[in-house]
Amino acid sequence: MRSKFSILSVVACLSLSGAVVSISCSRDKRAPQEAGEHGMPTGWKFTLPKGDPAQGRKIFVELECYKCHEVKGETLPAMAEKEKGAGPELSQMARIHPVEYFAESIINPNAVIYPGDKEKGYLGDDGKSKMPNYNDILTIEQVADLAAYITSLKGDKHVGH
Ligand code: HEC
Repeated sequence: MRSKFSILSVVACLSLSGAVVSISCSRDKRAPQEAGEHGMPTGWKFTLPKGDPAQGRKIFVELECYKCHEVKGETLPAMAEKEKGAGPELSQMARIHPVEYFAESIINPNAVIYPGDKEKGYLGDDGKSKMPNYNDILTIEQVADLAAYITSLKGDKHVGH
């Protein structure tokens, strides 16, 4: 009899959930924002595993990111001016962006395109970023390391975008 009763009350809960607030139904009391059930935890935010800036710097050199990105204050392999591809200088960026922003810039360069990007030569004729896709060669750890490296940079003067 006990089990039959609880099955009935579960059925009642299911059929009444989402209806009137005053219905007392123990399984539905938890607010959807609370962690644990399937709702979003309050203040949820995407976070990266902690990266290693020194490792990130190595990857930056290995993958030749410097071919498009100058990094002020760093001695990276020298590039002939005409060999340089288009990309913003990166040493100032840590002041204005969190680490997740840099990770997104690497795995999804088209996620944020600024109004002036076309004039700056950052975009191809298709209106998309000239930044290559590295997603099939970078591990998540390497993305975290690169993002940590860029976050660790301290530019010499304050400039925005
Ligand atoms: C062929 C040129 C090119 C190469 C190589 C390149 N990038 Fe980029 N990158 C760009 C361009 C152009 C932009 C600006 C447009 C955009 O946001 O995608 C950019 C934007 C970025 C940004 C965002 C800057 C900001 O504040 O908006 C980051 C971070 C970045 N690149 C990191 C990297 C890393 C790390 C590598 C190497 C793995 C790399 N890039 C290789 C061209 C390049």
